[in-house]
Amino acid sequence: MAFVTVGKAEDAPPEGELARFELNGTAIAVANVGGGLHGIADACTHAQCSLSEGDLDGTHVVCACHVGTFDVLTGEVVAAPPRTPASVYAVRIEGDDLQVEM
Ligand code: FES
Repeated sequence: MAFVTVGKAEDAPPEGELARFELNGTAIAVANVGGGLHGIADACTHAQCSLSEGDLDGTHVVCACHVGTFDVLTGEVVAAPPRTPASVYAVRIEGDDLQVEM
Protein backbone atom coordinates (compact mmCIF):
# COMPACT_ATOMS: atom_id res chain seq x y z
CA MET A 1 0.00 0.00 0.00
CA ALA A 2 1.31 3.40 -0.96
CA PHE A 3 -0.10 6.86 -1.42
CA VAL A 4 -0.55 7.80 -5.06
CA THR A 5 -1.50 11.16 -6.51
CA VAL A 6 -4.99 11.15 -8.02
CA GLY A 7 -5.57 14.89 -8.35
CA LYS A 8 -4.81 18.38 -7.21
CA ALA A 9 -5.25 19.47 -3.61
CA GLU A 10 -7.35 22.38 -4.84
CA ASP A 11 -9.86 19.91 -6.29
CA ALA A 12 -10.58 18.35 -2.89
CA PRO A 13 -14.28 18.64 -2.04
CA PRO A 14 -15.41 21.31 0.42
CA GLU A 15 -16.71 20.24 3.82
CA GLY A 16 -19.85 18.11 3.58
CA GLU A 17 -19.38 17.26 -0.10
CA LEU A 18 -18.01 14.51 -2.34
CA ALA A 19 -15.75 14.55 -5.38
CA ARG A 20 -14.69 11.82 -7.80
CA PHE A 21 -11.10 10.97 -8.64
CA GLU A 22 -9.77 8.22 -10.87
CA LEU A 23 -6.50 6.39 -11.26
CA ASN A 24 -5.81 3.51 -13.65
CA GLY A 25 -9.50 2.78 -14.05
CA THR A 26 -10.26 2.79 -10.34
CA ALA A 27 -12.70 5.53 -9.32
CA ILE A 28 -12.66 6.82 -5.76
CA ALA A 29 -15.23 9.07 -4.14
CA VAL A 30 -13.51 11.44 -1.72
CA ALA A 31 -15.65 12.81 1.10
CA ASN A 32 -14.87 15.81 3.27
CA VAL A 33 -16.20 15.03 6.75
CA GLY A 34 -15.59 17.91 9.12
CA GLY A 35 -12.46 18.92 7.23
CA GLY A 36 -11.07 15.39 7.07
CA LEU A 37 -10.79 13.62 3.73
CA HIS A 38 -11.90 9.99 3.37
CA GLY A 39 -12.01 7.77 0.29
CA ILE A 40 -14.56 5.11 -0.65
CA ALA A 41 -14.89 3.08 -3.85
CA ASP A 42 -17.00 5.20 -6.19
CA ALA A 43 -18.98 2.30 -7.65
CA CYS A 44 -21.89 1.44 -5.37
CA THR A 45 -21.85 -2.27 -4.49
CA HIS A 46 -25.58 -2.50 -5.31
CA ALA A 47 -25.79 -1.53 -8.99
CA GLN A 48 -22.55 0.36 -9.63
CA CYS A 49 -23.94 3.90 -9.50
CA SER A 50 -21.39 6.60 -8.74
CA LEU A 51 -21.36 7.35 -5.01
CA SER A 52 -19.72 10.71 -5.65
CA GLU A 53 -23.01 11.76 -7.27
CA GLY A 54 -24.85 10.97 -4.06
CA ASP A 55 -25.12 12.96 -0.84
CA LEU A 56 -22.91 13.12 2.22
CA ASP A 57 -24.74 13.20 5.58
CA GLY A 58 -22.14 13.25 8.35
CA THR A 59 -20.08 10.12 7.70
CA HIS A 60 -22.86 8.55 5.61
CA VAL A 61 -22.68 8.45 1.82
CA VAL A 62 -26.17 8.12 0.34
CA CYS A 63 -26.29 6.64 -3.15
CA ALA A 64 -28.34 8.71 -5.58
CA CYS A 65 -29.81 5.67 -7.34
CA HIS A 66 -31.65 3.68 -4.63
CA VAL A 67 -30.68 5.50 -1.42
CA GLY A 68 -28.34 2.75 -0.29
CA THR A 69 -26.05 4.16 2.40
CA PHE A 70 -22.47 3.45 3.43
CA ASP A 71 -20.30 4.74 6.26
CA VAL A 72 -17.37 6.43 4.54
CA LEU A 73 -15.06 5.71 7.48
CA THR A 74 -15.57 1.92 7.45
CA GLY A 75 -17.30 1.10 4.16
CA GLU A 76 -20.04 -0.72 6.09
CA VAL A 77 -23.56 -0.72 4.69
CA VAL A 78 -25.79 1.52 6.81
CA ALA A 79 -28.97 1.18 4.73
CA ALA A 80 -30.07 -1.34 2.07
CA PRO A 81 -30.37 -2.23 -0.74
CA PRO A 82 -26.57 -2.76 -0.90
CA ARG A 83 -25.43 -5.80 1.09
CA THR A 84 -21.72 -5.79 0.34
CA PRO A 85 -19.48 -3.27 2.13
CA ALA A 86 -17.48 -0.80 0.06
CA SER A 87 -13.69 -0.51 0.04
CA VAL A 88 -12.37 2.53 1.85
CA TYR A 89 -9.10 4.39 1.32
CA ALA A 90 -6.93 6.75 3.30
CA VAL A 91 -6.65 10.19 1.68
CA ARG A 92 -4.12 12.92 2.30
CA ILE A 93 -2.99 16.25 0.94
CA GLU A 94 0.72 16.29 0.16
CA GLY A 95 1.91 19.64 -1.10
CA ASP A 96 -0.28 20.50 -4.10
CA ASP A 97 -1.39 16.90 -4.56
CA LEU A 98 -4.39 14.92 -3.37
CA GLN A 99 -3.25 11.38 -2.67
CA VAL A 100 -5.07 8.11 -1.98
CA GLU A 101 -3.53 5.03 -0.36
CA MET A 102 -3.96 2.16 -2.79
S1 FES B 1 -26.82 1.55 -7.04
FE1 FES B 1 -26.46 2.41 -5.11
S2 FES B 1 -28.21 1.88 -3.94
FE2 FES B 1 -28.56 0.99 -5.88
